[in-house]
Amino acid sequence: MTAAMPVCSHLVMTMRPPELQHLTDRLEVALDARLETGPARDLASVVFAALRRPATAGDSMPQRLPVCDQFDRALDRVCSQGGSLAELGLALKSVDPVLSWERRPTATPGDGGFYDGHANATIVGPQGIERRDDVWIGVSLMAPHVTYPEHHHPPAEIYIALSPGAWRHGGSDWFTPGIGGLIYNVADTPHAMRAGPEPLLAIWCLWTGKSQVWPRTAPP
Ligand SMILES: [Fe+2]
Repeated sequence: MTAAMPVCSHLVMTMRPPELQHLTDRLEVALDARLETGPARDLASVVFAALRRPATAGDSMPQRLPVCDQFDRALDRVCSQGGSLAELGLALKSVDPVLSWERRPTATPGDGGFYDGHANATIVGPQGIERRDDVWIGVSLMAPHVTYPEHHHPPAEIYIALSPGAWRHGGSDWFTPGIGGLIYNVADTPHAMRAGPEPLLAIWCLWTGKSQVWPRTAPP
């Protein structure tokens, strides 16, 4: 990521920073290659159609947390896959310097390994590199043997797993989609994930249906 990326301003993005554009492009390609016809593909279509219009630059300061020590290991793993997954991993690595990693708001030091063993960073969304409300795209990172607690939210969601790890949603048992596997959660479905011996890395995207945070007079 170049120093020119306006991560600390409220400037309207008339053009998305190239590293961020490349990342969303690589994500779109990776999902397009894996999504069959159905509601998950429809969700991806809405997400990337909305992203054709850049929003505003976010103002979150870059922040790292202890689990970020696992990030390079996880990226090396996905990049070793080659093809579109490696391109997505490299694109994610390129925005690493401006990611603002945060703990789940309900996490407390009393959670044992979870507190310092997980982090989320919003790439596009209310706290993202690009600030907007209609589309949320982010990344989750977990240290080996850490479980992310079951949670749910109104928007449907697609995860693309960029590492090994186990997942559970609805009333399912734990399953292992594998690197490049997709997880689609319909609205308000409880879901959880669990890292095995390797760190867990995944990108998630949601469409909230809300209006963008950007002046209506701004260019598209
Ligand atoms: Fe989720």
